[in-house]
Amino acid sequence: MKVWTVVNQKGGVGKTTSTISIAGSLSAQGYKVLLLDLDPHASLTYYLGFDAENLTSSLYDVFCQTPSEPFDIKQALQATKIKNVGLLPSHIALSTLDKRFGTAPGKGLVIKKALEQLGSQFDIAIIDCPPVLGVLMVNGLVAANAIVVPTQTEYLALRGLDRMLQTLEQLKPTLQDEVLTLVVATLFDRRVNACLASYTKMRDNYKAHMWRGYIPVDTKFRDASQQGLPINMIVKDSRGAFAYDKLTNELLKYAA
Ligand SMILES: Nc1ncnc2c1ncn2[C@@H]1O[C@H](COP(=O)(O)OP(=O)(O)OP(=O)(O)O)[C@@H](O)[C@H]1O
Ligand SMILES: [Mg+2]
Repeated sequence: MKVWTVVNQKGGVGKTTSTISIAGSLSAQGYKVLLLDLDPHASLTYYLGFDAENLTSSLYDVFCQTPSEPFDIKQALQATKIKNVGLLPSHIALSTLDKRFGTAPGKGLVIKKALEQLGSQFDIAIIDCPPVLGVLMVNGLVAANAIVVPTQTEYLALRGLDRMLQTLEQLKPTLQDEVLTLVVATLFDRRVNACLASYTKMRDNYKAHMWRGYIPVDTKFRDASQQGLPINMIVKDSRGAFAYDKLTNELLKYAA
């Protein structure tokens, strides 16, 4: 199983939207996909129709296990309405982990090890990270074969991207050797000058990591989230669905 981690220290840039949209695209192509919601806000979990506060098991249990009381990750697994897509849901208690574990050794490997238990049940796992550098994000990054960094095409988001890439550089010794890092321009509106300027700057400054396409602003994403489904299951021929299909194919080419 390959692991794709969707991450950015900046909030609201399209991480959760990218996670669900890539999953939709993979599902349509027949892949078995496991989604992990590592954000204590549980946006992805709610998106998929689960009430994160009332689930009996979640990714939190994976972090709380001990050698004498191991937790089988399969216990937290939920089936979703999307064909061949499973979910390991979030819980608000995930927000307490930084305080509890801080920089405790080995705590960055919890998710990587837990995924190894699943063997070949899924083809690709996609991890949705919180916009906070801490134990959860580190766990997502350490497990990754590909790191997808959605970046909104606007001035402030570019500063956030600098910070995120610095973080990746600092963590490099703990990341997988062949990890692919792909910066993805999101919420792009070609009619808006500020968007165009940011997009051009991104392509100039981050050439080594930039995906050549972009994700356009598309109101169909809102319709999709209202229905708890990926955009390609709502409007297959929308610009947004088409863009995420292209991104998914790029990831399949280099990290599957
Ligand atoms: N390409 C797009 N076109 C239109 N709306 C979008 C697009 N991408 C994301 N959105 C909307 O922008 C909002 C933020 O997106 P999303 O929740 O995916 O960001 P996020 O990075 O996961 O945020 P957070 O950091 O809070 O977890 C959502 O309302 C989502 O529907
Ligand atoms: Mg999110």
